[in-house]
Formats: sequence, C-alpha cells, structure tokens
Amino acid sequence: MLEAPPTIHSICCIGAGYVGGPTMAVIADRCPHIQVTVVDLNAERIAAWNDADLTRLPVYEPGLDAVVGRARGRNLHFTTEVDAAIAAADMVFLSVNTPTKTRGVGAGQASDLRWIEASARQVAAASQGHTIVVEKSTLPVRTAEAVKAILNGAQGSGGGKTFSVLSNPEFLAEGTAIQDLEGPDRVLIGGEDPAAIDALASVYGHWVAQERILRTNLWSSELSKLTANAFLAQRISSINSIAALCEATGADVREVGRAIGTDSRIGPKFLQAGPGFGGSCFQKDILNLVYLCRHYGLEEAAAYWESVVGLNTWQQQRIARLVVNSLFGTVSGKRLAVLGFAFKADTNDTREAPAIRICRDLIEEGAQLAIVDPKVDAAQIARDLEHSPVSADAAAGSRPLGADGSWLAAGSPIEAARGADAVLILTEWKDYRQIDWASIANVMRRPAWLFDARAVADAAAARAAGLNVWTVGEG
Ligand code: NAD
Ligand code: UGA
Repeated sequence: MLEAPPTIHSICCIGAGYVGGPTMAVIADRCPHIQVTVVDLNAERIAAWNDADLTRLPVYEPGLDAVVGRARGRNLHFTTEVDAAIAAADMVFLSVNTPTKTRGVGAGQASDLRWIEASARQVAAASQGHTIVVEKSTLPVRTAEAVKAILNGAQGSGGGKTFSVLSNPEFLAEGTAIQDLEGPDRVLIGGEDPAAIDALASVYGHWVAQERILRTNLWSSELSKLTANAFLAQRISSINSIAALCEATGADVREVGRAIGTDSRIGPKFLQAGPGFGGSCFQKDILNLVYLCRHYGLEEAAAYWESVVGLNTWQQQRIARLVVNSLFGTVSGKRLAVLGFAFKADTNDTREAPAIRICRDLIEEGAQLAIVDPKVDAAQIARDLEHSPVSADAAAGSRPLGADGSWLAAGSPIEAARGADAVLILTEWKDYRQIDWASIANVMRRPAWLFDARAVADAAAARAAGLNVWTVGEG
C-alpha cells in the first residue's frame, strides 16, 4: 500500500531575502493552516520584515505589502530564532544566497556554497523527527549530494532524526515576483522520495494546478534552473548583438524583434534590447554553468555559454564608449544625468545593474554624474560605485576641465538634467516614458543629447525639443 504523504503543518525558510520573503509570504497567504516562519541571521532585515509600516519592507515588489499585510502575525512570522523555527518545522526551505566565489578554487565562476552548507548543518543540528529539506536556492547540479551527506551525519547520530531532500528552484523575476508566485508557469520538484515530493506538491496544490507541477529527479531539477536562466540571458545577448548591427545598418531592433518574435518557435518574450542584463542571477548562474561544463571536460560547451556573458559586458562598455564619443570624445568635467539605477524597473535591487558598470566607466572618464532612481537610495548607489557622492552645492559652481569624475544624487529627472550635456536612461521606469522633453531640454547645456538605452523615451518629442537622440538598436 502506498504511504500517504506527510501533511505539512509547519514550514521554516532559512533566508529572508528577495526569494525567501516573497515566496513564503505567498505560501502563508494561500495556506492559512500552515505556520510559516522565515528566519535570517541578519537582524536588521528581519526587523524590516516586521516593520508596522508595510512601505518599509526590505524588498520592494508590487503587491508584496498586501500579501504580507494579510498573513503576517497570523501564520507568517519573521524571526532570528533560527534553531527554534527549524525544530518546529516539518519542512525547511534553504533560500540562502549563493553568489559567485571570489577566492579559492573556481573563483569568478563557481558558486560559493558556504551559506548552503552552514544552513544544512544548522538543520542537521536543530531539526527534530522527520524533516523535508527543500533546496530553494539556485545551486550547481549535484549539490543535493552534499546536502544529503551533511544531513545523513545527523541521521546516524541518534535522536530519531530523518530527512528527505528535494530540489524546488524558484523561477520568479523581480518586479513581478508576486504575480509569478501566484500564477507560475510551472513549479519544479526534483527528488527521490515520492512521499516528500507529494507533500511539497500538496502545499503548492492549494493554488497551482497539478499539471503545472513538474516532477523530475534531483539532478534534472537543479540543472533546469541554471539552464532556464542561461537560455533567458542568451536571448538578451542575442538581441543586443543584433541591436548593434541595427545601429550600424539602419535596421531597427524593435522591428526585427517583432518580426522574429511572431514566429511561434521563437516567441516574443525576452527580445528587448537594452544596456545588457543585470540582476543577481543571470551572470552568476551562467558562470556556474561554465564552471560545471569545464569541470566535466566540456570545453566547447563552456566557451559557448561564456560568450553570453562576454557579449553582455561588451554591450555595457559599448554604451559608455558611445556616450563619450558622441560628446566630442570627452566627458571630463561634463555633467551627465543618469535616469535609473536599478537593474530593471519595479525593484529596488541594484545587484549587477548595468548602470553600475556604465556609471563607473563614465566616472573613470571624468564625468560628473547626477543620478536619480525612484526606488534606489544614495547610500546604495555609493556602495555600488565604491564612491561617495559630492554635495549638490559643491557640484554647482564647478565645471573644471580634466576634473576627477564624481557623482551626486538628484531628486528628479529635471534636477539631474540641469546644466547637463546628456541624459542617459538606464532603467525602464514607467515615469521615463512620460518625460516632458521640452522642459528637460530647457535646463540642459547645448548641444544636448539623450541616450536611451531602454528605448522608453518619446524620441520624437525629445528631437522636437532640440536634443540629439540615440536609442539602443535604432539605426
Ligand atoms: P538574498 O541575498 O536576498 O537573501 C539570502 C538571505 O539568506 C540573506 O538575507 C542572508 O542573511 C540569509 N542567510 C544566509 N545564510 C544564512 C544562515 N545560515 N541562516 C540564516 N540566514 C542566512 O538572496 P536572494 O536574492 O533571496 O537569493 C537566494 C537564492 O535564490 C539564490 O540562490 C538565488 O540564486 C536564488 N534566486 C534568486 C532570485 C531573485 O530574483 N533574487 C530568483 C530565483 C532564484
Ligand atoms: C531572472 C529570471 O527571469 C527569473 O526567471 C529567475 O528566477 C531569476 O532571474 C533568478 O534566478 O534570479 P530577474 O533577474 O529578476 O529574473 O529579472 P528579468 O526580468 O529576467 O531581467 C533580468 C535582466 O535582463 C534585467 O536587467 C532586464 O532589464 C534584462 N532584460 C530582460 C533585457 O535586457 N531584455 C529583455 O527582453 C528582458
């Protein structure tokens, strides 16, 4: 007789970040009978998740405040009491960070698994009875082997502990996380223990149709996540390479995108040319794939995926160079307004944002940047640029030739554009589609430029206002 899957009463999620927080909030919202506790070592982050003011949650995502507002205090809890939450849980999600290693073997490519190992060890030590351990973080294929080895150590040490390990990678995109979690294209569960797989499928089954819940072996699940990100990023590098060719030939990348995207085999999504992909995962996950291919002796496969990242870096450098070349070959001492710093619209996340490399390159060339973003604060920009801002007063009087590059935080696009030779749009915030270019042109120094790396501005209006306009992918 088949054993009934264990019913899940209590979930613990280790890691209250961009994935752990929103994912657990949606599970708690959709499964009011399950107690969901999200734990983190970072007390400041946990305090922000508990902030009575829902506009101050540590992650900005449209719709997240409403979901947290409904569930928090009822069956959704945020705490730094890691061990107690693990002990009480039937199911523990590992949703910790897995950045690229910066030192040692595989530095620059392999994932740094120290947080996964530490959290698995904590589960091994603090769990009680049978615990289903779910890999939610994005991990190199075969990581579950290491997680199982750590847990098996505890299993053998007495105390009646047993474990099942599942892989359940997350496919949400930032900015649409709640929408993606509430209506996923698919939920992927990899594992070896059918009862554990059924238990997790029954959690998702409260709001996801069973046919969208895919079951695979552990390794296929781990590898599918890296592969999905690599394929998405590869489309962006492909279209960005064509954007450059469009600019050189008089073709228009949006027209090309539409023409190829209507082929149902290609599809219309992820064909938006821009300043290159950013975000915490695409580059990290492709580099991890490259490392794995090399590890298994597949040099050609490694080189193929590496070129996707290489093209992305080139696109960012190309945009910075193009700005310099257009402004008579120098931006030294010139004020440039930068509109948008987040890696995409509708998020406050700046990890690997294309704006970082582009702004650094322009500062290196001596530019004086005035940066504005509706959701990213000056402190975050300073950390990303590894440069403190100058004050607006200090910047006002000076336009010294050959000056060192610098940046300041501006409060609005018009404030950023005051006295600037160029406006650069680096994030596709909705507001930037409605900019009144006549007012902006009015406060700029002539000749003035608009460099629209997201193709969101009303280029005709900007031209009518007397600006020279460059739009990514427009020949
Ligand atoms: P994050 O850095 O925002 O959050 C991770 C959190 O884990 C941090 O707050 C950290 O303090 C905490 N943590 C680390 N070790 C811990 C421990 N031992 N105990 C308690 N807390 C601990 O990361 P994220 O963006 O949420 O990403 C998490 C994972 O999900 C990564 O593997 C990432 O690749 C993957 N992922 C991210 C996204 C995304 O959109 N950001 C989407 C899909 C998958
Ligand atoms: C991406 C994937 O879309 C998610 O499925 C995945 O779960 C996640 O990575 C992850 O593993 O972290 P995310 O990075 O949040 O999500 O956002 P995307 O919408 O994929 O955008 C990534 C970058 O590509 C952004 O800089 C965006 O501006 C850029 N992009 C996207 C383009 O330049 N063109 C496009 O057509 C689409």
